[in-house]
Amino acid sequence: MLGIIGGTGLTQLANLEITHRRVARTPWGEPSGALTFGRLCEQEVVFLARHGYGHNIPPHEVNYRANLWALKDHGVDRVVSVATVGGIHPELLPGTLVIPDQIIDYTHGRATTYFVDTNKPVVHLDFTTPYCEAMRAVLFAAGERAGIRLRDGGVYGAVQGPRLETAAEINRMERDGADMVGMTGMPEAYLAHELELCYAAVGAVVNYAAGRGLSSDGIQMEEIQGVLGEVMAQVRRLLEQMVTDDASAQCAV
Ligand code: HPA
Repeated sequence: MLGIIGGTGLTQLANLEITHRRVARTPWGEPSGALTFGRLCEQEVVFLARHGYGHNIPPHEVNYRANLWALKDHGVDRVVSVATVGGIHPELLPGTLVIPDQIIDYTHGRATTYFVDTNKPVVHLDFTTPYCEAMRAVLFAAGERAGIRLRDGGVYGAVQGPRLETAAEINRMERDGADMVGMTGMPEAYLAHELELCYAAVGAVVNYAAGRGLSSDGIQMEEIQGVLGEVMAQVRRLLEQMVTDDASAQCAV
């Protein structure tokens, strides 16, 4: 079953026919909110709002372990994660949708693994390819069908937040090879990997990163708000197309 994690600007999927909601408990604590189950052409999908349905959980306090565990525990094997980002690469202008293919972790102090049993041998999982290629391909196919442009690839720089970056930090991240900056990409991507979930992300660029373009004198919240509604409308269409494609593939069998 497909799981969708929505971020800022995407706390629900309007066109999903909701069947039920379930409050999930996990060994890692509580997820950000109840899991919302919906149906389309006999195909169930699950939606979870990463920051809570009232958007009240900041990025560094999201219980990423509980979120992914709860999804897996309820039958999810594939996850699309939606997150807003700031554009560092000159082509990642506000309004762009990007499907990253790499990630750099600048976060700290977050719970980053399920391997916490000290009696077991140490595990070093390969993470060379952080995003699932099959899931990325599904997104591109949906984008093509829906006539939505998706930028293929880019390095997501995951920062701690909740503050935004300094211009110097963005310059450093650019030198590191980061194309976009966001606050929630890690440890989510890695935890999904530990759970063997097929996981891909949709980055919605809502602002120029600090010190760039219209943000050269500071990031304006009005700029973000102006772009957010429009870009999330595109994301919704993309996800609906994806679920419809998925559903017809299932129905065709
Ligand atoms: N920095 C970090 N996270 C973000 C940004 C940003 O500029 N925009 C949206 N999420």
